[in-house]
Amino acid sequence: MTIVVAAPAADVDGVVTRLRTLGADGVNASSTGTGRWLVRATTPDEATDELLVQRLRAEGLIAVARPNAGVRLDAWMEHTRPRVFAGRVSVCFAWTEHDRANLAGLVELGLGGFGNGEHPTTAMLIDELLDRVAGGERVLDVGCGSGVLGLCALRLGAGELVAVDVKPDAVEATRRNALLNRVDAVTMATTAPLGEIDGPFDVIVANIGRGALVELAPELRRLLAPEGWLGVSGFSPVQREQVADFLRPLATMGHRSVGDWSAAVLSGPVRRRSR
Ligand SMILES: C[S@@+](CC[C@H](N)C(=O)[O-])C[C@H]1O[C@@H](n2cnc3c(N)ncnc32)[C@H](O)[C@@H]1O
Repeated sequence: MTIVVAAPAADVDGVVTRLRTLGADGVNASSTGTGRWLVRATTPDEATDELLVQRLRAEGLIAVARPNAGVRLDAWMEHTRPRVFAGRVSVCFAWTEHDRANLAGLVELGLGGFGNGEHPTTAMLIDELLDRVAGGERVLDVGCGSGVLGLCALRLGAGELVAVDVKPDAVEATRRNALLNRVDAVTMATTAPLGEIDGPFDVIVANIGRGALVELAPELRRLLAPEGWLGVSGFSPVQREQVADFLRPLATMGHRSVGDWSAAVLSGPVRRRSR
């Protein structure tokens, strides 16, 4: 296996020294061209990898172990390929070894939290952000997971992000990812219930499934600005009407489906035109 540590330029020498101290071999560092560096090292066996990765993560480093060769490496490379959306926003893991220097609107993700842009429920809402973010919006990401949706919104020009999740791990991941992407100054991530969040928001995205959408419908309606829009995802095409019913009087402006998944966009009380 190969250990890969993703680090900013300023930390690279320290990571190289640390890996050598921990007994890793063949330590080398390379720039990704985006300010992020990758430090690679080899270890004698998989048990050592696991211990090493755990230790590095406990020290706050973004460390992963990947296969050295063969079909497992091919699968790893496919899994870590950056996702590019309409050539305007791109999402990748901080440790990806694919070229990322020329990707537009790059969002890098560290460890933890659901969502890397691959799942259709996430991808459909990124497509809605591409279509609708005009610039300067105040965005609420409900069920932020890794923070991927809110971070994409900021990359597309939104002005401020509030990200909420019931899972403390997801909120921590979102905070780290905001820092990683240098948007921590305009991001607030919290486990606070929606009832404690102050609106209004120009954009709300919520990839949280039918049950949570139904439960949170009154708060989503309260928090949406009169001319804002709400993107919801994580339900089946059959459940779409039911979700829309619970969100009335918000009006459905559009919807899309991929396989068994559906997403919809609803307008605030003032905005009634469809796109
Ligand atoms: C499918 S993930 C979506 C993650 C990310 N937003 C994305 O689109 O890839 C759903 C997230 O919603 C969170 N969640 C579920 N119910 C919630 C609720 N009632 N309030 C806030 N977050 C919730 C989960 O903890 C999980 O992180």
